[in-house]
Amino acid sequence: MSTIGASVSHSGMDGNVVSSPMEFNPLMPEFIANPYPFYRRLREEDPVHRSTLLPDTWVVTRYADVAMILRDARFGRHDAENFFREQFGEGPLLNVFTKWMLFRDPPDHTRLRNLVNKAFTPRAIEGLRPRIQELVNYLLDAVQTRGSMDIMADLAYPLPVLVICELLGVPAKDRDLFKEWSGDVARTLDPIQMPEMVAKGHAVVDSMVTYFRGLIATLRKNPQGDILSAMIAAEEQGDRLSEDELLANCILLFSAGHETTVNLIGNGLLALIHHPEQKQLLQENPNLIQSAVEEFLRYDGSVQLTGRSTKEDVEIGGKLIRQGERVMTVLAAANRDPAQFSDPDRLDITRKDNYHVALGQGIHFCLGASLARAEGQIAIGTLLQRISRLTLLEETPQWRPAFTLRGLQTLPVTF
Ligand code: HEM
Repeated sequence: MSTIGASVSHSGMDGNVVSSPMEFNPLMPEFIANPYPFYRRLREEDPVHRSTLLPDTWVVTRYADVAMILRDARFGRHDAENFFREQFGEGPLLNVFTKWMLFRDPPDHTRLRNLVNKAFTPRAIEGLRPRIQELVNYLLDAVQTRGSMDIMADLAYPLPVLVICELLGVPAKDRDLFKEWSGDVARTLDPIQMPEMVAKGHAVVDSMVTYFRGLIATLRKNPQGDILSAMIAAEEQGDRLSEDELLANCILLFSAGHETTVNLIGNGLLALIHHPEQKQLLQENPNLIQSAVEEFLRYDGSVQLTGRSTKEDVEIGGKLIRQGERVMTVLAAANRDPAQFSDPDRLDITRKDNYHVALGQGIHFCLGASLARAEGQIAIGTLLQRISRLTLLEETPQWRPAFTLRGLQTLPVTF
């Protein structure tokens, strides 16, 4: 276990540090409940921290360093295969993850990303807004007269599944399968893995591969206007995409597009419930929804960290990172860096120049950024317009026991 003696406050999401000495260990319940005081301590005292929890790994928490690493070609994914082999051993997780564009360097990364990029441009996503609005209305109609709801189960979870399944061309009758699968895949992205999570991850990815193999066979005979049919056409044109790459990147789109957006909606609404004055401001000024969603992404982002490896020796903040070592870029810590954001622990839905890194930076910048923003804006904006008063049923909502993808188990409210 790593031992930077962090002093933390366990309450609120304000990032304030009070004194109660403790180890830095992201598996601790206190860390999962509120990682921000730990991040603050790291950023202030050891911003390029040598992990003693993970081998040959540095934990980087300052905004300038994180943004530099994500944009600098001296850092890349060349070590992804070794990393996943160490994490998972041989099997479906290794076979699939190593073909995700997210874990490839150019030129493979460029080739894979270009195949699906068109479907996710801001313009293409604008065209989806009416459909997303319809889905949000449909989900809220089901709860409006009930007087209570679990925001996670009734809105945050179903919306992104419905949207990504429609985009990919997954038939409506199969969509429930995906709800279960996505959580198990999401948990395999944590840097620290328990054997039972790995076993579950292998089994789930194997089921997804089997499912998509069947769907691809159907769509090959009968192409539709969805992304998957377009990818199949590219595969059939020859050397642009192999069937394994096609299967793997379908699973990536599904996984990257689901749990992340679920948690944008959940974390964003929880932040608002904890800041009633900001909630009221947004309800009175619905046109603030765009800057509000950027602030939710910055304040309590659903993707807390990502990683790279060094292709050569690089010095950061006076520390020498040797060739081949790994860096864990903590996006959520960078997003609270006072050198970049004024009063960073304050939720301010009107914040200007909010250049957060919650959606990444550089060549791997989130492909689904416009889609995630549209879903977040429509879901949160519509809920606040339709339901004026939201009261938390549990004083301290439970976070999922995950570190990379941060989100709530449930968010029960009455209204
Ligand atoms: C709030 C929701 C979301 C967040 C916070 C988020 C965050 C991120 C981040 C931080 C990265 C970069 C990771 C890195 O550099 O290592 C990324 C990449 C990616 N995201 Fe998202 N994402 C979200 C929603 C989505 C959606 C809706 C989709 C698609 C359907 C999507 C698809 C992808 C893909 C395919 C990549 C890899 C891009 C590449 O390697 O070039 N994401 N996302």
